[in-house]
Amino acid sequence: MRDKGGILAGMDWRGVICPVCGQALTETARVLRCGQGHAFDVAREGYVNLLRWRGKPPKIVGDQAEMLHARRRFLEKGWYAPLMDLLATAVDKNPAVLLDAGCGEGYYTRQLAARFPGTRLFGLDISKTAARLAAKQLPSARFMAADVNQLIPLATNSVDVIVNIFAPRNPTEFSRVLGADGRLLTIIPAPGHLPELRTRFNLLNIEADKQEKITAQMSRDFDLIQVYPLSAPLVLDAADARDLLKMTPNYWHWTAVRQTNLAAITQFTDMARFQLLQFACP
Ligand SMILES: C[S@@+](CC[C@H](N)C(=O)[O-])C[C@H]1O[C@@H](n2cnc3c(N)ncnc32)[C@H](O)[C@@H]1O
Ligand SMILES: [Zn+2]
Repeated sequence: MRDKGGILAGMDWRGVICPVCGQALTETARVLRCGQGHAFDVAREGYVNLLRWRGKPPKIVGDQAEMLHARRRFLEKGWYAPLMDLLATAVDKNPAVLLDAGCGEGYYTRQLAARFPGTRLFGLDISKTAARLAAKQLPSARFMAADVNQLIPLATNSVDVIVNIFAPRNPTEFSRVLGADGRLLTIIPAPGHLPELRTRFNLLNIEADKQEKITAQMSRDFDLIQVYPLSAPLVLDAADARDLLKMTPNYWHWTAVRQTNLAAITQFTDMARFQLLQFACP
């Protein structure tokens, strides 16, 4: 029977492979095991930690809880809903299997689950906190803590669509896990993204040639099929502006000056600008 919405699937980890030896993992009593005996517990919240470190694990990995909560508050207010609509248009018809690579706290994964019932969804993020937050809200999807820059713990040719939203890319691994007709939808900030915020808080500009750089990075494994530009006006109050600043790497450069500038905001108008790049395997 086809599993609409993932409910019948329960803890169905089909397609997930062992990060140590690459063999298929199967679940018994909330432990994923491969034929070689490598074992990974499924956390209470429903995600699995497949991160492998050579040596001591770093203290800080990926986005922190405060960033993830800021991102969730901001996105759940619907400020980037036009971007979600564009993503859904580009995904088009229900893919059998979709991977959200760099899923964060899972806003786009949740939205995709609502719009594409029957699609098996995987989310992957290097931050365990992100995987945990995402899994708690969407039990029908499978979330993994894993590094996109290493082996992606999914079988070769097992995915139809990868979405990759403001997150790192690994062209070789993306092309391995995608099937022959697989597609990659990457969303990046475009030049002129949030100009008011950038001026007011002295943030770095988006590189003018970011799209060309990414296309070049992908070119050995992917053809660029289409570029969809999108602008979304924002009318934010101080709390929204704070969340917008905290959900990005600006979080790491939080200063008293920024705090003072934020306190002065009552209402704030800006323009978010994005590009959705659609790639296909040649
Ligand atoms: C800007 S956030 C975007 C999150 C989500 N796609 C969204 O738009 O809401 C970037 C995410 O990439 C994750 N990330 C950073 N490096 C990564 C890596 N090497 N492998 C997997 N995820 C990574 C971060 O932990 C963070 O959740
Ligand atoms: Zn193994």
